[in-house]
Amino acid sequence: MEDNDFRNGNSKTNIFGSNRMLQPAPWDIIPEEPTNPDIAYQMVKEETFPQTQPRLNMATFVTTYMDDYATKLMNEAININFIDETEYPRIALMSAKCINIIANLWNTPDSNKWKTGALGIGSSEACMLAGVAAWLRWKKKREAQGKPFDKPNFVISASYQVVWEKFSQLWQIEMRQIPLTMEKPTLDPHDALQKCDENTIFIVGIMGITWTGMNDDIEALNDALEKFNSKNNLDISIHVDAATGGFIYPFLYPEKKWDFRLKWVTSINTSGHKFGLVYPGLGWVIWKTKDLLPPEMSFTVNYLGGEVTQVGLNYSRPAAQILGQYYQFIRLGFNGYKNIQFNSMSIAGYMHDEIGKMTQFKNYSAEIVNPLFVWYLDPEYDKTAKWTLFDLQDKLSQKGWMVPAYTLPDNIENFIVMRTVVRQGFSRNMADMLLGDIKTAIIDLEKFQYPTQTRIDHNNKIKIATKIFNHNGIRRDK
Ligand SMILES: Cc1ncc(COP(=O)(O)O)c(C=O)c1O
Repeated sequence: MEDNDFRNGNSKTNIFGSNRMLQPAPWDIIPEEPTNPDIAYQMVKEETFPQTQPRLNMATFVTTYMDDYATKLMNEAININFIDETEYPRIALMSAKCINIIANLWNTPDSNKWKTGALGIGSSEACMLAGVAAWLRWKKKREAQGKPFDKPNFVISASYQVVWEKFSQLWQIEMRQIPLTMEKPTLDPHDALQKCDENTIFIVGIMGITWTGMNDDIEALNDALEKFNSKNNLDISIHVDAATGGFIYPFLYPEKKWDFRLKWVTSINTSGHKFGLVYPGLGWVIWKTKDLLPPEMSFTVNYLGGEVTQVGLNYSRPAAQILGQYYQFIRLGFNGYKNIQFNSMSIAGYMHDEIGKMTQFKNYSAEIVNPLFVWYLDPEYDKTAKWTLFDLQDKLSQKGWMVPAYTLPDNIENFIVMRTVVRQGFSRNMADMLLGDIKTAIIDLEKFQYPTQTRIDHNNKIKIATKIFNHNGIRRDK
């Protein structure tokens, strides 16, 4: 007799001939019975089909390409929990070696065998740790002076990444924002210092501003702070949020001073999973010297042939990213990183030039300083255009690209910009394809006889909903 049971799933099952494929995927209740693994795999896999291919995602800063050996190493470590140091002491050691390497890339003056730092799930955790350390240092000092310590604040430009809003709200530390203008698109040291007082735990400078790709001038901030601190008998320090720039500047512009060479820079974070070239999630924070990390934040272990300090918000965390980071350091070396970052910068520069030549567009900055940039509609063109960059975003998504459009931070929020981040895995050939698709999309958009809804909203100064996409941490409700 014919065995029709195969519809329920057995070795003869044709996945798309099974009963399971006639059922909706579970939404709120766990299925009663198991499903064959090949069918379960297909069901999960196809949920991810109707979305952007990671390498066509021009919104993300996060690594979307690693070579086969890196992928193999990371897959092989997928079952390792980083926190199990007793079982996997070599991985803790590997992490400490990565911290050493990064600290040296940032010109640490620390001569200890093990530099002081921590890993995080991303820059967000790393920023939080740096913030907590500065807050505890400040609090302890105030306590010792017999002064109140209930109103801490920190100073940052309005183009901060959302993690700083989280830090402010979760730890109840006032965030003093320096508004930006089109003329002053980065943190003005003078404006920043005007917001500082004895309750300031630190100033955050950004290398690789999420919104625009620009840099705050950390050296100018350091110099201004030197005068301010000595005049007011304060010791306010700088934390550099180098989520992006931390892995660009040591390789491409080593002469530029933004790091531990500067007196008041006491901590720096970066994302290993951005231009550190590792799949998500991996972040790093380094303190200039050991004394800057309050002891209550750290666990020190001594069974690694030396003292290794561990700090973190989470307990369990994947170890695979550490293998990925260490592999990249060995595989690429300094010059390998330099070549990859050089290519990303060059391709970003090429795109920047080509976008700048298009009459519909205007680049936000004359030059690029990180491998990303933003542009907006030329103000003259904008006056009569029937579309906005939000419509271009939609058009490009039909071709598989995710190129985000969004409005700039408060004060300059009337500007709709479009951003592209160039990473390893985005070739000149892909840049030409994207540019071609942008040009074709514009031809279509220019055929519109009536204004699009986003154009009507923009002209009426109605906030355009950008809530659907998280453009890499840009506040979604703004
Ligand atoms: C300047 C800046 N800081 C912090 C972050 C948060 O980084 P992560 O996504 O690694 O947590 C980002 C992410 O884009 C960023 O651009």
